[in-house]
Amino acid sequence: MVCKVTELTPFELLRDDAVGSPVPLPERLAALYGGLRLNQPGPSKRIISNFVSTIDGVVALNDDGTSGGGEISGFNRHDRALMGLLRSVSDAIVVGAGTLRAAPQHLWNAARAFPELKDDYRELRHRLGKADEPLNVIVTASGNLDPGYSVFNSDLVQTLVVTTRDGARELTRRGLPPRVMVDAAGGEHLSARHVVRAIRCRAHAPMILVEGGPLLMAPFLREALIDELFLTIAPWIAGRDEEARRPGLVSGARFDLETFATLLSVRAATDHLFLRYALHTKDAGAVV
Ligand SMILES: NC(=O)c1ccc[n+]([C@@H]2O[C@H](COP(=O)([O-])OP(=O)(O)OC[C@H]3O[C@@H](n4cnc5c(N)ncnc54)[C@H](OP(=O)(O)O)[C@@H]3O)[C@@H](O)[C@H]2O)c1
Repeated sequence: MVCKVTELTPFELLRDDAVGSPVPLPERLAALYGGLRLNQPGPSKRIISNFVSTIDGVVALNDDGTSGGGEISGFNRHDRALMGLLRSVSDAIVVGAGTLRAAPQHLWNAARAFPELKDDYRELRHRLGKADEPLNVIVTASGNLDPGYSVFNSDLVQTLVVTTRDGARELTRRGLPPRVMVDAAGGEHLSARHVVRAIRCRAHAPMILVEGGPLLMAPFLREALIDELFLTIAPWIAGRDEEARRPGLVSGARFDLETFATLLSVRAATDHLFLRYALHTKDAGAVV
């Protein structure tokens, strides 16, 4: 069977133990993905993450951050459609400056992930009572960002930069447009808790999606703030050597296997696997 309009075959559901309330998916999204259950934020606010990796765990091909997740997935349409779905259920999407530099013209909304389903994503946000677009959040210590990037200039999304005092001074010097909100209260290394507080004191954001990259994932995992990880495995092997470090989904922190996961669901499409995990750590942090 093919999902009309997108001409995508539905994800093949291999396992689904996810609990929570059924998300009121519009017909075409339901036909494509099957049911989606999410623990509704409420008192336990949610933070989820979404990555695509090669079989051998590589999420970015180049050390200089010039390759994005698109190259890793092979620009796989199911991966893009799922990215759009996760963006649709989120109030804020957080990325590190390296991810922005690798995609300077990107906006973090569902339509940019997979334009073919943009009306369905919009309808889903409407059904969930969410703002038209998620808040776009950029994390930078240095403030070394080009004020001409789309995310700072588009009328479509609101943008918040979470940075240090030095970073804020640098952004001002570079002429960051005044429409961009800036949180400049952080020390040199911003904790994930600080980032989340900066978001939630400015926006109603019960559901936050962290889209990486690997350096930003370090504090989020270290502080046990990611509830769930959606991980696409693309069917290639990228390898690494001294010239190309090729990170996995977290850089800058080690965990001695103390962060572990429960497999919630498995879907397949083409030769890609779409995994969903609940994350646990020995010292799970309090809800922010
Ligand atoms: N395959 C996937 O699913 C996927 C997902 C996301 C990203 N990526 C790829 O990953 C690559 C980028 O990796 P990356 O690790 O360099 O990117 P990143 O985590 O997006 O960005 C790193 C930068 O973000 C800022 N930052 C992150 N955490 C911070 C903290 N706690 N405090 C202050 N600043 C913080 C710093 O910016 P400043 O340098 O400005 O201080 C840091 O240099 C890109 O190629 C991107 O496309 C792949």
